[in-house]
Amino acid sequence: MAFDTPQNDTLLSAHFSLRYADKPVLRGVRLEIQRGEVMGLVGQSGSGKSTLAMTILGLLEKKRAHAEGSIQFQDSDLLQLSERELRTLRGRSISLVLQSPLSSLNPALRIRTQLKEAWRAHASGTNSDCGNAIRTCLESVSLPTDDEFLRKYPSQMSVGQAQRVLIAMAVMHRPVLLIADEATSALDVITQSEILALFRALNRSTGMAILYISHDLASVAGICDRIAILHQGEVVECGTTEQIFANPQHEYTQRLMAAMPRILPAGPSIQHKTQAAATR
Ligand SMILES: Nc1ncnc2c1ncn2[C@@H]1O[C@H](COP(=O)(O)OP(=O)(O)O)[C@@H](O)[C@H]1O
Ligand SMILES: [Mg+2]
Repeated sequence: MAFDTPQNDTLLSAHFSLRYADKPVLRGVRLEIQRGEVMGLVGQSGSGKSTLAMTILGLLEKKRAHAEGSIQFQDSDLLQLSERELRTLRGRSISLVLQSPLSSLNPALRIRTQLKEAWRAHASGTNSDCGNAIRTCLESVSLPTDDEFLRKYPSQMSVGQAQRVLIAMAVMHRPVLLIADEATSALDVITQSEILALFRALNRSTGMAILYISHDLASVAGICDRIAILHQGEVVECGTTEQIFANPQHEYTQRLMAAMPRILPAGPSIQHKTQAAATR
């Protein structure tokens, strides 16, 4: 197994196994996330990516999902926290953006109402404090802040705008860690690259770490500092994006690389985008 050396600015350090009833899903998973880094988590469908994210967030059904080990985050072991303690962390210190923006938003409520609820979940203050917080987070994701926009229902927005609203909610309380679980997988390629650029910009401007989860190695190349490869519930390799692309160690990573589409337009000057991204 190839793992790079842990640094001392660790934000999250996980080493655990998880099973659903008798079915092992994550086996001795090791994952370290440094403060301020964008960490990719890549693996095929069913490898356990969402389960890993949900374990960090404490969102798995306690009766069915059994975790053993620890997930150190700041001063706590997330696996030992009560539901109440987890609720104060979720949305404030660690937040989540999922794949389908339109199903994550409430179709019956205006955007303003949903943003207000997200603010009030972890803050108290006047209407004007709330309005200012909403304006700031909408600006940070390059969305309009006017009344006409805030009065919209989710169905009146494009899917890209809806994803930006969810990202605005996720960054509203300035989390130190944002987990994006296939957050761009349902988007068309142009919107996908705009949202990827937004995640990178937010990472740079706020310093929040991002765990960027995707089944698609190519899509993570441009934004991740490091990448962990999950295969059948095990992290089989973890390294910088450059290392993973230039010198994949594990046989499964090598297969993932070999399976990446390489449809090149004619002409020697145009490089494959992931090759370019990997050397950035
Ligand atoms: N609630 C559940 N009960 C039992 N098995 C589950 C449950 N959720 C997920 N699994 C199983 O865990 C494995 C990993 O699933 P998941 O974490 O969703 O993978 P990924 O996000 O990588 O596609 C799969 O085999 C899936 O069938
Ligand atoms: Mg998943």
